[in-house]
Order: sequence, then C-alpha cells, then structure tokens
Amino acid sequence: MFDATVYDYDIEKYNLDHYIISCIQKYYPTVKDLSILHETVHPKKVGELVKLVGKDLADTNFYSLFDELVEEYILPSLNTEVLIQKFGNIRITIPDQDKTGTVLPYHQGRWVGNGLGLRTIWVPFTDAYSSNSLQIIGIEKSREITKNSTIENWDYEKLQNVCIDNSYPVNIKKGQYLLFTQENIHGGVPNRTGKTRISIDVRVLLKNGQPHRKWPGSYFRILGDSKISSRKVRIEEHENVVTYAEYEGFKTRNIDLHFQTLTIKDYCNRMGYTFPHQTGDNEGRNHSYLEYLLNEKKLDHILMFSIYSLPDNSERRKYILRLALDNKCKLHFANEEFVLYEESMLNKIEYLRNFTDDWSSPVCHN
Ligand SMILES: [Fe+2]
Repeated sequence: MFDATVYDYDIEKYNLDHYIISCIQKYYPTVKDLSILHETVHPKKVGELVKLVGKDLADTNFYSLFDELVEEYILPSLNTEVLIQKFGNIRITIPDQDKTGTVLPYHQGRWVGNGLGLRTIWVPFTDAYSSNSLQIIGIEKSREITKNSTIENWDYEKLQNVCIDNSYPVNIKKGQYLLFTQENIHGGVPNRTGKTRISIDVRVLLKNGQPHRKWPGSYFRILGDSKISSRKVRIEEHENVVTYAEYEGFKTRNIDLHFQTLTIKDYCNRMGYTFPHQTGDNEGRNHSYLEYLLNEKKLDHILMFSIYSLPDNSERRKYILRLALDNKCKLHFANEEFVLYEESMLNKIEYLRNFTDDWSSPVCHN
C-alpha cells in the first residue's frame, strides 16, 4: 500500500487546492494557475512564500479537511490508530530550480530523523510529472542501495548517481495522492518542464510504530485535533509563574538546560508571555521538587520543556498531572504548545505519551 503507490480521492469533496490558492493570493493576488506561479513570483521569494503559506494554512480548515481525507481513504486499510503531522511541508518546485540551488537531495525518511513507523502522504496541487515531480525508488531497490552505500561507505556523489539511475518520476495528477514509506529513497532533479509543481507532504505515525526523532505531541498530533489549546490560556499580571527544568526523562536526559530554556523562551515569545523566574529539579530525585512546588500551592503556572519532561513512569506521571489539576496550577509544555488546565488535556497527554514504546533507531551505523 505504501510502496510509492498512487491513489485517487474525491477532489470536489476535498478541495485542498482552493486553500493553497487562497493563501498564495493573499501575497500574490494575480496568481490563478499554480503551474505558472513562477511567472509572478521571483525565484528568490519562493522560500519566503512557502513559509508564509505554511503558517497561514494552519489557521484555515485545511488540516481538518486533510484529516477527513485520511480517515476516509487511508485509515480503513491500515486497521490501526495513527497520529498525524501537525504541520505538513509545502513544496514549490519552480522550473530550473537548480539555478538557485534548491534541488531536493536524494534521501529517505530514516536518514532525516523519521522512524520506520511513519508513512508519508504526498499530495500535489498541480499535475506533477517528469522532472518537476518527485523522483522515487521502489522499496526493495532502496533497501539494496541503503545497504551497499553503508557497507561500501559511498560519498554523496556516488549515492546521487546511483539514485538518479534507479529512480523514476511520480506521474500524478490533481485529485491523486502518493503513499510511501521511510525506506523509499526519493529526491528531485532540475525541473525542465517549464511548469511549477506545488505539493504538500504529511506524515502519519502508526500505533506502536517507531517515531525516532519525530515526537508524538510536538511533531505529531491526534487525528482530528488541529486546535492548539494553549492559545486559550492567559497568564495574568498578578499570577505566579516559573519555568521548570529536569533531566529524568528518556527523551530529556540529554537535553541540557540551554536547549530546554531556548524552547521555553520561544514558546513565551509566540504566546506573548514574559519569560519568568527559572527553576528546576534535583537530578536523580524523581521529580520530587516538582511535587513539592505543586503541593505548596503558591504557583499558578509552571512552564516546562515538554510532555517528555514528566515522569516516564505512568503512575507517577498521572499522579503529578492530577496534583497539578487539583491544586489549580497550569502546566505548560512548550515543545507541544499544550497547557494542562482540564481533565481532557490529561487524557490527551497520556494518549500521546502511551502511543508507542518503540524508541529504537532506524539508522544503520557502520
Ligand atoms: Fe523526503
């Protein structure tokens, strides 16, 4: 099902391209046909447009519609639960993109931080063919190339040449989508079609699948849940707020204070919060200072790096979350943009933390 296979969807019901065109027209009102976007948008402005469209799309119904498409077409054949990528990647491939150095290098998901429990859904908003499309390699050949490139320690040029020889363009029209695994090697070539290709790629994580560097909660959200809860939470002038760091978690033990702090600072900037007094736990003491802070009932908000800063032990974690709710201290998780302020958020955090246990690596090191 996912070996670089193309499927049809109902484009009338899932008019995803309308959202893309509207978002682009906000900045370039004269663009009507996406395949000739390059006639209006300067090559040096394409990267900026991709960022703007990606940001604006999150405030539309695009992702709730995308979730419905996944539920109707993909979920039934998977027969398992999935999480879905919070923000998809918009790609704009203009003609002769090699002149501005933006050809997508050959790679596969497992080489760019994706675990093998991920699957990619690739949806074009223009017809994609020949050199403007994605160039892809079947899974068996991809595995052979991966093995040989690792054993024989190829340089990038050799890898690139072998991939060019073995890949083929995905010929796909609007109203179709492509599915592939994190083992299908893919990349781009110089676009000589004279037409722009625009697409989005969105990943799902299968229940109990291997996420590797793409964490449930930050990179992935629950299917059908495209709202960001913390946007509702205000921090009032008179309220007591601290940040909290810890190093107990299997994901956080190697994330030193500097990086936890940067994530919280960035969260404060996005939410319009003042960066507060900084505190943290005693390493090796099982979150006992956090428990003390919550029992003391003097704080209204605690800002921490992630839901992975909470205890790994499920009973201990639920006890801490419950204590925060009971004592009316709002816990903010910067990396996920979650705030624990009601029971439903406790269930959401637990669902995400329990989605998979497979934290192994998909990368073969030689
Ligand atoms: Fe990729």
